[in-house]
Amino acid sequence: MKPEAPVALQQVPAPPDALGRALGDLRISVIDRCNFRCPYCMPEEAYPADHAFLRARDRLDFDEIARIARVFVSLGVKKLRLTGGEPLLRRDLPLLVARLAGIDGVEDIALTTNGALLPKLAQPLRDAGLQRVTVSMDSADPEVFRRMTGGRGELAEVEAAINAAERAGFTPLKINCVVMRGVNDDGVPGLVERFRGTGHVVRFIEYMDVGTVNGWRGDRVVPGAELVQRIDSRWPLEALPRNATSTARRWRFRDGAGEVGFINSVTEPFCGGCTRARLSADGKLYTCLFAHAGHDLRALLRAGESDEALRATIAGIWSHRGDRYSERRAELRAAGVLEHVEMYRIGG
Ligand code: GTP
Ligand code: 5AD
Ligand code: SF4
Ligand code: SF4
Repeated sequence: MKPEAPVALQQVPAPPDALGRALGDLRISVIDRCNFRCPYCMPEEAYPADHAFLRARDRLDFDEIARIARVFVSLGVKKLRLTGGEPLLRRDLPLLVARLAGIDGVEDIALTTNGALLPKLAQPLRDAGLQRVTVSMDSADPEVFRRMTGGRGELAEVEAAINAAERAGFTPLKINCVVMRGVNDDGVPGLVERFRGTGHVVRFIEYMDVGTVNGWRGDRVVPGAELVQRIDSRWPLEALPRNATSTARRWRFRDGAGEVGFINSVTEPFCGGCTRARLSADGKLYTCLFAHAGHDLRALLRAGESDEALRATIAGIWSHRGDRYSERRAELRAAGVLEHVEMYRIGG
């Protein structure tokens, strides 16, 4: 069913949540499938070939996603990020980007991808209005890279993706690397070397206990502070000021060769500035990456709820939000609170 031409919506920011945090970003997962099997996200053993992913009719269609996004923008969201699973597996993604780019009040549209399909899609996405791209790359060593994708990815493909994104005008890119001790942490200097001087920014992410099947262990986390020391001893670094709502701590190379970032979500949680809401491909709203359940917006939409009613529901959910999992990790894990939505369902 096609929606009517949109009726003007009230443009009033959502009330702050229970901890005083504004609603600022919406991260939209467009598909729960992925062509990789990264051990920290969708380990091969847990997702065999016959795993039941969402059926197409259970996913929000582009009209529904655009409608929800418009309602969020009317509540103060300015930044949109498309995620997955792997978002480039969703057919016709540039059409969705064009729809989102057409919403008044959207200031930033970004994408997080593993890059495998980016060579074909970088230019169409740029033409549709995508502004920024983050590519995941967990090692610059072909063997380790392959292992970090569950044997499904080739380093040459992600290098081709980076070239295509550069050609399409997405420089500077962000490059995300999840670091697991004893698995890929030896490769940190190699990644720094690969991207120093390119204008792109590598961010090292602490391995998190997202989902329920990645076998997380605290001793596999490499604290960002340890990586800063390791990198600084070879390429001297200087801290850059921190943006209150950002996930990353930024450092610049003293020799002017650019910057690196550290997303220390385990050792230095950043819940205090968390303005992020997340929408799953089947239309559930999650107010934290570690939530165990979401609020079913698809049901409201498909029951014929008006945009204004949806607006009020979302504002109410946001105003009650008290999530700060990363700050309470130790306490919650000790109490046996281990049920979290899987990362491939709500994106990175
Ligand atoms: P922009 O500011 O839009 O460029 O994005 P960002 O710098 O926040 O980075 P991005 O969205 O690429 O997130 C990078 C990684 O940080 C994700 O893949 C997650 O691993 C982690 N991350 C992002 N948001 C959150 C969050 O709200 N909580 C936690 N614990 N981790 C997050
Ligand atoms: N820990 C940290 N980051 C993760 N991601 C997925 N799973 C994890 C995890 N367990 C993030 C990575 C990846 C993005 C798609 O999701 O940043 O690049
Ligand atoms: Fe796929 Fe990204 Fe998860 Fe890796 S981290 S399995 S590329 S969704
Ligand atoms: Fe936000 Fe939850 Fe991450 Fe904290 S743990 S920063 S509240 S998503």
